[in-house]
This record gives sequence, C-alpha cells and structure tokens, in this order.
Amino acid sequence: MTFELVVRNGTVVTSSATYQADVGVHDGKIAAVADELHGEREINAVGKYVIPGGVDIHVHMQMSLGDGVVSSDDFFTGTRAAAFGGTTTLIDFVEPEPQQSLLEGLAARRAEANPQVVIDYGLHMTLGPDEKDKLDQVQAAYDAGCGSFKLYMAYGFRLDDGQLLSALAAIKQVGGQPVIHCENWDVILTLIQRNLEAGRTAPHWHPRSRPAPLEAEAAGRAIDIASYVDAPLHIFHVSCAAVVERIRSARALGLPITGETCPQYLFLTQKAYDAPGLQGTLPICSPPLRPQADQDALWRALGQGDLQLITTDHCPFVLRDKARGLEDFSKIPGGVPSIEMRLAGAYQGVDRGYYSLNRWVDLCCSAPARLAGLSSKGDIAIGLDADLVVFDPERQVTLSTDFLHEQCDWTPYDGIELQGWPEVTISRGEVIVRDGEFQGEPGRGRFIARR
Ligand code: URP
Ligand code: ZN
Ligand code: ZN
Repeated sequence: MTFELVVRNGTVVTSSATYQADVGVHDGKIAAVADELHGEREINAVGKYVIPGGVDIHVHMQMSLGDGVVSSDDFFTGTRAAAFGGTTTLIDFVEPEPQQSLLEGLAARRAEANPQVVIDYGLHMTLGPDEKDKLDQVQAAYDAGCGSFKLYMAYGFRLDDGQLLSALAAIKQVGGQPVIHCENWDVILTLIQRNLEAGRTAPHWHPRSRPAPLEAEAAGRAIDIASYVDAPLHIFHVSCAAVVERIRSARALGLPITGETCPQYLFLTQKAYDAPGLQGTLPICSPPLRPQADQDALWRALGQGDLQLITTDHCPFVLRDKARGLEDFSKIPGGVPSIEMRLAGAYQGVDRGYYSLNRWVDLCCSAPARLAGLSSKGDIAIGLDADLVVFDPERQVTLSTDFLHEQCDWTPYDGIELQGWPEVTISRGEVIVRDGEFQGEPGRGRFIARR
C-alpha cells in the first residue's frame, strides 16, 4: 500500500499502550502501525510522542449572551487555536431559538460552523425550558447526529427538577448521552442578591455566591434523578472535591456517571478573583474557581479514575466585555479561554506524577471520544481517522497572549510555564499545524454525526 504520510520513529502512546512504531496514513485513515514504513511524505518523530488527536467535548464558539456580548473565538479562530494545541475534534452546542425546532436549530448552527471549522466537530443539543414541549423531537435530533444533549441547572436555560426528569427520560429513551451543568440556581440567586445589597460587588464574592457544597448538592440531585430514570449522566466542569465525591460514590454503585474537569480548575484558584480592578473580573466562570485544596483534589481524582475526562469549557470574553461587571460581579460574562493549552496543560499531570502517559491520552483523547460517540476518533488503530499529534515532551513554553492563537486579548495562564508542547497536528491525514505554522484551511473540518 502507498502511504501519503508516514510518521516515523516516534513513541506511539495510546490509552492502553506505549511502543515504538511508524504510523502510515492512506486516504485520511490510519492504514498501518508497524516498523520501517515509508511514504510520499514523512515526518520524523524521533524523541517525540505520537498520540491520537485531542478531543475536547465542551467548547462555546461565538456564543451570544445577548446585548452584543459574544464569546470572542469564532469557529475559525477557535478551531485553529485548538489545532495549535493538538486538538483535532471538538464538540460545541446547538441552542435552539424558542420558535425553532431542534432540527432547525441544528441546521442553523451547522451553517455557522461549516464554512469556518478547520478541524472536525460535533454538536450537543441543548434542551432548555423552551424545549420542554419539544421532547418528541429528541429522536430526530439524535438521528441527525446529536448523540448528546445538554441540560442546565443554572442560568436562563435552567430546568427545574421535574423538567430535568422529563428531559433525562426522553434522552434515555433514544439512547442519547445527557451532559449537565450542575449548580443550585435558587441558592445562587439568593446569595448574589444578599451580597449585592450589602455592597459586596467585587469578583471576590463570585465564588462566595456559588458555594462548592451546593454545586455538589446539585450534582447529587441530578445523579439521583438520572438514576431514577435509568439514564447515564456526564457532569460538566467539576470544580471541587465535593462533586468528585458524589461522582465517586455513584460510580461505586455501578451507575453510569462520568465527570470532567477543565484547565482553569487545575491551574487557577479563587485567589485570582482578588486581583485589583479589571484583572479580578477576568477569570469569572461558573462554577467558580475554588481554593487550592480543591485543585489538588481534582488532579488526584483524574489519576485515581474518579474523573474521566479533561475538557476546556472554552468560552473567552474580551476585556471590554468583562469590564461590564466592574461594579457588579454578577454582570461579568462567565467563561475563560483554555482550548489551546489543554493537552499540554494536562501533560503536567504526567510530569508531576499524578497519572501515566496512557492515562493522559485517555483523559484528553480516548475517553472523550468514547463518551461522545466519536467512534472514528481518539485512538491510534487501523481504520480510524488519521488524527495524530506529534508531541515534544522536551519543549518548554511560557504561555502568553502572544504565544497563544485564541482570539482573546488576555489569557488566564499568562506566565505559566509548561513542560511539553505539540509540534505537529494532523487531521484526517492532513498536516494542519507544523512547528508553530498553521497549514489548514477554514471549512476543511467536517460535522461528525454521533451515536
Ligand atoms: O462560565 C462559564 N463556564 N461559561 C460557559 C458556559 C457554561 O456554563 O458552561
Ligand atoms: Zn456550564
Ligand atoms: Zn460550558
């Protein structure tokens, strides 16, 4: 067989094995994993890890919050930054308008993404309160490739417990995967009001209005409701040890519950909210950053198998938009940019002894692909899409807005030093980033229909 591309002499790392081999690519697929392969184009990966392309199943590109506030990465800049960071597949969201059917919402979001994406992508279907009368459309959304459904216990999208039960039952019936934002919204609204009335308007009060035990209460409640209707459940952006404990105990009972955390919770703490002026508004996200003890617990949970994935919840807002909440922390748009540093950030867990190389690949590539029904992604095996990353474990980088490619005028990781960085990113056999140079094209990415 002729190989269009061979990645030679690298150390192949998958979620289950580490070995020396060449990887041959034919027609966009992995066609051989063996010694002494040669092809039309060869990449020398000696001294490097060859891993499956990263899979990030939680991102928000060009997400509108209304009043002209939109997350600042569009589908082009966001997927390009993802590619620079070694991510070759991501999953964003459909948020249907009240008057739209689920399929109309899906078509509209695909029309936004398709001309721009440089890597492959999927979409979670959001079922908010406006969708409570659309649950008979869940099968159609699933058949159209939305294998997973997003539920919120916070914000305007919030479902009450009865709505949550109905949505989970409908998703279960079609065999879909529910994913959920867990916080106790009534408690949050009460605490925000109490703090603002007392003149406590600074970002310092953001985590103090969204307490960790109530994030855990919400997660526990969601798990109990899911278990009652016999549905699986994936818990988004776990910020604290208390939620890990809920997930751990549910899994110990054999329940199909999974959880993810994100780089912001692994590299930052709630002290960041005490920075003066605009600086303190920037890392506002929900659930909020927590104390150091929670950060330590999250790293341990990833190593011990109590959390299963690392995603980003990438949702950048520029300085001008963050400044809207200078006088009132509850008005600061929530979300931070993380898409580019995820894979290398997670590699620090190997470097610091929390988990193995294989576990790193599982957390960032294989487990997200399995959970999201991306059957052709997340592994290095014959017949799968040739989504590959050549990762240089010796390269040291210092993160900054100049170094990163996200379309955002700040990064929460400014000055953080990382050991290891992706050198080459390959999507379906095409080299799209090499040595810091982008070689992809907008629109080359494909929508992946997922089961
Ligand atoms: O504050 C956050 N996390 N913004 C993004 C939307 C969400 O809740 O996931
Ligand atoms: Zn969320
Ligand atoms: Zn999110």
